[in-house]
Amino acid sequence: MSSSKADSRSDSRADIAVAYDVDNEFFRLWLDRRMSYSCGVFDATDDLDEAQQAKLGVMYDFAQVRPTSRVLDLGCGWGANLEYLVRDRGVAEAHGITLSRAQYGEVVRRRLPGVTASCVDFLDYEPENPFDAVISICMIEHVCSTEDIREGRSADKLGEYFRRAWRWTRPGAHFGLQTILRDRVPRTREDIREIAWASREIFPGGVAPRIEEVVWAAAPYWEVVQMRTRRTDYQRTCAQWRTNLRRNEALIRKQWGEQLFLDYDRYLTACVNGFARRQLSLAQWSLRRIDDAR
Ligand SMILES: C[S@@+](CC[C@H](N)C(=O)[O-])C[C@H]1O[C@@H](n2cnc3c(N)ncnc32)[C@H](O)[C@@H]1O
Repeated sequence: MSSSKADSRSDSRADIAVAYDVDNEFFRLWLDRRMSYSCGVFDATDDLDEAQQAKLGVMYDFAQVRPTSRVLDLGCGWGANLEYLVRDRGVAEAHGITLSRAQYGEVVRRRLPGVTASCVDFLDYEPENPFDAVISICMIEHVCSTEDIREGRSADKLGEYFRRAWRWTRPGAHFGLQTILRDRVPRTREDIREIAWASREIFPGGVAPRIEEVVWAAAPYWEVVQMRTRRTDYQRTCAQWRTNLRRNEALIRKQWGEQLFLDYDRYLTACVNGFARRQLSLAQWSLRRIDDAR
């Protein structure tokens, strides 16, 4: 590996540590019981646990998973989807990838039957055997940085994400993808300041793609079978996370200090506003592998 590649890999790991390695017990206080850190689906419920379960059901269907499938969860977080696959859907074999050491520790701690995991950058990952289906929930936001966009590298980087998923799968595979999207350009000084702050302090090194960037990057390898947006579902998810955070304010201040509470309250407020003002959106995609791609 060249030294500049090695440097950018270690930057990614450091950025991921800022976003996810705060403390698993901190995130457990305000996420749902399985610890999904992504948009839930509130079509038939107001309850966060049920909304996250419904989201995992959508991804299962969009990836056309069967109990006999060997499934890859690309960017598996603390293992919510892996747990859903093997416990609720009886999937025999699922593998998760995360770049966060703390998340990897939690996946291992759950001792899920049929689940294996790797703490690895997806750019360094090679499976021993191909997968029948891929699910990747809100990981693509980490693939490109603002520098990549400024320097014209974002199309290649997003393309590499879809190309790898294609290489790791069997003919006929489907891909259940969930992505945050960049939408309207923020215009007020306050919105610009808050978004810049959150992307520096809470989620460094990543940026959500625009819808057309996802379409272009996926197109050589994956056919879009269906896509739907769920902007207001993510607004509701973030609002519920903030309610849970505030309910645990005293404990968080005592255990992790005042600043962590203030930072996450500010960040979740910026997210609620970003989705409400259409600066951000959320899309769920069902993609079918283009088997004769190269
Ligand atoms: C917002 S979290 C979503 C986690 C999970 N899918 C969920 O819905 O709860 C993003 C995930 O992508 C992973 N990730 C980001 N960049 C990565 C990379 N370069 N290689 C592997 N995993 C990565 C993070 O470690 C984290 O698990």
